[in-house]
Amino acid sequence: MKLLILAGDGIGPEVMAEVKRVIDWFANRQGLEFEVNEDLVGGAAYDVHGTPLHDETLKRARESDAILLGAVGAPQYENLDFSIKPERGLLRLRKELDLFANLRPAICFDALADFSSLKRDVVSGLDIMIVRELTSGIYFGEPRGVHDDGEGGRIGINTQRYTTEEIRRVARTAFELAQRRDGKVCSMEKANVMESGGLWREEVQWVGDHEYPDIELSHMYADAGAMQLVRWPKQFDVIVTDNLFGDILSDEAAMLTGSLGMLPSASLGAFAQNDRPHALYEPVHGSAPDITGQGKANPCASILSFAMALRYSFDLNDEALRLETAVEKTLASGVRTPDLLQAKEVATPATTKDIGDAVIDHLEATL
Ligand code: IPM
Ligand code: MG
Repeated sequence: MKLLILAGDGIGPEVMAEVKRVIDWFANRQGLEFEVNEDLVGGAAYDVHGTPLHDETLKRARESDAILLGAVGAPQYENLDFSIKPERGLLRLRKELDLFANLRPAICFDALADFSSLKRDVVSGLDIMIVRELTSGIYFGEPRGVHDDGEGGRIGINTQRYTTEEIRRVARTAFELAQRRDGKVCSMEKANVMESGGLWREEVQWVGDHEYPDIELSHMYADAGAMQLVRWPKQFDVIVTDNLFGDILSDEAAMLTGSLGMLPSASLGAFAQNDRPHALYEPVHGSAPDITGQGKANPCASILSFAMALRYSFDLNDEALRLETAVEKTLASGVRTPDLLQAKEVATPATTKDIGDAVIDHLEATL
């Protein structure tokens, strides 16, 4: 099992250090054979190579079974040209490996139900899966850019663009997941104002009618969906949506679970030679420059992303569950980073490394 670790910027290296300890535990204590390589991405790569993703790194990414990514971006790169911003490193990886299906599960652990900004009964037991299209739409559509308008002003342009096949393939991923869950898919777009949204709705419906008649399919405008997500999120099972709406709705869903520091993700692509899809696993949170280097970062989202790698890239379901349970027990025991402590609590917050220690203790306890 070939892993490529791209820790990236900000808190990326800190949370990845804990993931590496978890990988070592599975290697040493469970006999799993990983080949682990590490490389640079984002600002870290720009500093060394002048580009946020070196061709050599892309080559290594193609040759690996799973990529584990930390985070990209930092304030010092904000004024760089778009083509070499840290974020482009991640976007290029997604595009070049055709990682079109981004799975973002929002699960509310019981121990964290009180940390959600919503009432306990609205979020406890929540388990939804957002499937975000990741390689097309307004993130990549042409034309794009900023031009002079010839009258002293400027025009900024981005293009929302989707093809039949791009919509159908991500819809299939959502339907497949729903078949193994509660059998419901809700598709979100803005078919009321965007032609591409109308096409999205028709194509998702087509896949539902022709290939998954057993799945209960519904459609919502994305604004109404955003509202329903905070009103009564448990009405959803699988949500499928485009690249931009998926970016926004998944951050919103993350807060339902208590903290942005809890949400893992898997980005899956077309099948590679060894019958495994290209896959990249990363926390939904970003590089968090405000807390970088202080030991405050919550590594749970990254650790849970590795659990997703065990499940989706290597079919190691028992191991994935074992790891998810260890994280849940860690949080239930009160070992928590500051994002998961309420002001009134006097408990000393745990450091990033404390979380890693506790997760490994709970893994040990399962032997
Ligand atoms: C995400 C992030 C990225 C995105 C950024 C870092 C490019 O917000 O993965 O949700 O917008 O897709
Ligand atoms: Mg985002």
